Amino acid sequence: MKAIILSGGKGTRLRPLTHTGAKQLVPVANKPILWYGIESIVEAGITDIGIIISPETGEEVQAKTGDGGQFGANITYILQEKPAGLAHAVKVARSFLGDSPFVMYLGDNLVQSELALFLEQFATRSLDALTLLCPVPNPSAFGVAKIDADGKLLQLVEKPKDPPSNLALVGIYIFTPMIHDAIAAIQPSARGELEITDAIQTLINWQKPVEARQIRGWWLDTGKKDDLLEANRVILDTCLETSIQGDIDAESQIIGRVQIGEGSKVLNCTIRGPVTIGKNCYLENCFIGPYSSVADEVTLIETDLEHSVILKGAKIEGIHKRIVDSVIGQRAHLKEAPRRPKAFRFMIGDDCQIEVV
Ligand code: TTP
Repeated sequence: MKAIILSGGKGTRLRPLTHTGAKQLVPVANKPILWYGIESIVEAGITDIGIIISPETGEEVQAKTGDGGQFGANITYILQEKPAGLAHAVKVARSFLGDSPFVMYLGDNLVQSELALFLEQFATRSLDALTLLCPVPNPSAFGVAKIDADGKLLQLVEKPKDPPSNLALVGIYIFTPMIHDAIAAIQPSARGELEITDAIQTLINWQKPVEARQIRGWWLDTGKKDDLLEANRVILDTCLETSIQGDIDAESQIIGRVQIGEGSKVLNCTIRGPVTIGKNCYLENCFIGPYSSVADEVTLIETDLEHSVILKGAKIEGIHKRIVDSVIGQRAHLKEAPRRPKAFRFMIGDDCQIEVV
């Protein structure tokens, strides 16, 4: 069994963060989204992993993730010249996959699932495809499945106006090499992409054994800012373990589950978990409230923060209001004058959103 993780694509919905970086590398609780997928695949016993990358962000994904040694995996990078669809990505990975059955995992998905259990069911039931599903309140925004009482997949519909169920397709699929024949038989959709849903529907039409299972854990979209904050909240809530490695002075107070990385300095701060703070950060006279993730090399001075994600190398100084529900990009610099400000002075990149509330 092999696995491919799709880490190409455009990432339009997470702009401006994805103007300068891959969306799969955006951190949730200080770990790139992509790494959660790698860890879950390795945990299920698969170590031969191909990662699909794009010409724009591939180098960054490769530099950050490496050859897989740190995960106990062997990673091969596979270039997809254009984001021509999920089934197109499988086509590009054809020589890596050979005649092996494989897991296909979308690199921007965060799923709590027992992948090993689904792999076992895929094998024992001799399926050609197994898809994972999660009930959602707004099925019209997703690929939706119609299944029978035994879990047999009857039909897949992309973003239906009149959804046949509330079961959305989670971005994890298991296939035999039969999927390659189905992909060879489909045409690009109206949006010009080779759709994996069309390929699976083709297997169904050919009366091949295709089933679906509901996951029991969470499935988090990270497509937009509020999704990212919610994913950060859930991961900090469920996975964070206390570990303090930086220097904390006697005036500081650390409450609840808090992680502070090596080389970080914390002076006269209150940190109320769950909070994760990366390596080599400098925090002075701050309150860091629950559900905040602060990446490596961040400087926070006189800052009051809650339910926010601060990316690598950002600097926030003397903002005299609480910063909430915010995502601050890499190396961004926010500063307020020591006296009451009379004016704002901005340099804001494309697609940024500023709300003075
Ligand atoms: P999507 O979210 O469907 O597409 P996208 O990355 O273009 O995103 P956006 O809507 O924000 O513009 O992609 C799901 C995952 O699959 C994501 O990790 C990107 C990856 N992908 C590829 O690797 N190749 C492709 O051709 C496509 C369409 C997506």
